[in-house]
Amino acid sequence: MHSKVELIDGLDDGILARRVAVDWLDEIEKADHNSIEYRVALSGGRSAERFFSAVSELARLRSVSFDKVRFFWSDERCVPPTDAESNFALANRLLLQPLGIRADHIHRLKGEIDPCEAAEQAEVELRRISPSRSVGLPLLDLVFLGLGEDGHIASLFPQAQREVVESRAFFLPIVGPKPPPNRITMTYAAIAAASRVWVLASGVGKDEALTASLSSETRTPLGHLLRLRSSTRIYTTWTSR
Ligand code: 6PG
Repeated sequence: MHSKVELIDGLDDGILARRVAVDWLDEIEKADHNSIEYRVALSGGRSAERFFSAVSELARLRSVSFDKVRFFWSDERCVPPTDAESNFALANRLLLQPLGIRADHIHRLKGEIDPCEAAEQAEVELRRISPSRSVGLPLLDLVFLGLGEDGHIASLFPQAQREVVESRAFFLPIVGPKPPPNRITMTYAAIAAASRVWVLASGVGKDEALTASLSSETRTPLGHLLRLRSSTRIYTTWTSR
């Protein structure tokens, strides 16, 4: 059974990025107003880049406080945090530094160490900071995901082995087809346990992956995730074409 999919349309990638930024800043303001911690996991890629830039610009205009926000990642490449391929480096340059996020609220996946060790350390840190759901998986308030042209999300790619798809771990080391190949990813179970999941399905070549993911016979990673969740929000420029 598919989750309820909320499709939000943006006329182009830039307008879509600003729409997501506005919606997220509304959430951050609410958390700040209620003085509750807010835990978010970021992804990488070009859609994330557009989104981060929009958030930084609008957060300054709206004077939004990020004091209650803790930053995690849904995946990371196995490279140093200063590497141009690092998802942390992208967020640090466009979001964390511009917003002045405090260092102890940044919980990056350590792409520079052994991937198995990095996955274990990240899970220990996340469990230390986040309450766990009844099923024992730490609870994130929001996971942002990009959508790959093959329907991948985070670093969960098509035709992954069964032990990856069914893993109850929170993070796993992965070798994937998207360069750089060696990565650490949040698992399907971990993403499914998040309070909210927002997918940024923007950029050229995503329509087919999105259409396939929304069909009942889907075999894409996004389609698999949709089946695991009761609701998922998808921001796309797809319907405006
Ligand atoms: C990564 C990302 C990956 C990305 C999608 C979409 O580490 O590569 O987390 O999941 O979000 O591949 O990337 P684009 O927005 O660049 O198409």
